[in-house]
Amino acid sequence: MPNIAFISPKGGAGKTTAALLLALGLAERGARVALIDSDPNKPLLRWGGLSGRPDAISVHAAPTVQDIRDAAYEARRRDPDWTIVDTEGSVRGAMVFAALRFDLVITPLTGSQMDAIEAIKASELVASFGKRAGNDLLHRCLLSRVPAALKPRSLAAVVEQLRARDIEILPAPLIEKEAFRALFEVGGGLAALEGHGVSGVPAARRNIEAYVEAVLKLLGRPAVAERAVAERALAERALAYSRVG
Ligand SMILES: Nc1ncnc2c1ncn2[C@@H]1O[C@H](COP(=O)(O)OP(=O)(O)OP(=O)(O)O)[C@@H](O)[C@H]1O
Ligand SMILES: [Mg+2]
Repeated sequence: MPNIAFISPKGGAGKTTAALLLALGLAERGARVALIDSDPNKPLLRWGGLSGRPDAISVHAAPTVQDIRDAAYEARRRDPDWTIVDTEGSVRGAMVFAALRFDLVITPLTGSQMDAIEAIKASELVASFGKRAGNDLLHRCLLSRVPAALKPRSLAAVVEQLRARDIEILPAPLIEKEAFRALFEVGGGLAALEGHGVSGVPAARRNIEAYVEAVLKLLGRPAVAERAVAERALAERALAYSRVG
């Protein structure tokens, strides 16, 4: 069961959006996802309280590091395939490393110089926590809110700065999409948005697909482990028999 954390010392870089999109994309592929909301403003908990949350996604509030451990423990009862932790946009967010062992840490950033500086800081923070814990933490930056049409010069400059420091970037950026904002107003996943007159949903869906694919490829695993698929099929069959009986 992989654990993924979203961290960035800078607020508003796109962590919560990227965490939710990953959860929705994994759920689309049949995975059960525990979303741990460690931001005191509780944006994911609020999303989970709107209508349409897929059953495959559970949301757990965890305002402190101790709460993250407890929330992960509570989530485990639902046998999730993935645990995704969203943190607050400050250096305090990095305290998350004391709570769980992470398979991947993602730092979203927009194509701005300020975000680039903070993403470099995040990368250094992750490297130092990994060293202290005695095992390297896998870290990737994720370009977010990238304009769909043309790539601005500032974005190229940001990419160049990260590359110069050997900071790796996930190969699928998140596009600036009205649909991604609307998820937090409407609730649920992309399917619910079309009925609310939100445009660009098919392109948003393709973008999530590419992003999820990039994460799965990086971790070298499917959305749902074969063992879990087999166990769940058995459990469903047993339930069906018990109902017939
Ligand atoms: N790909 C995107 N397309 C459109 N809007 C986006 C996208 N990503 C983020 N946003 C918007 O940008 C704002 C900040 O995004 P988000 O809340 O995900 O960032 P954050 O890093 O979690 O912020 P904080 O540090 O405050 O928790 C929000 O209004 C969100 O709706
Ligand atoms: Mg957030």
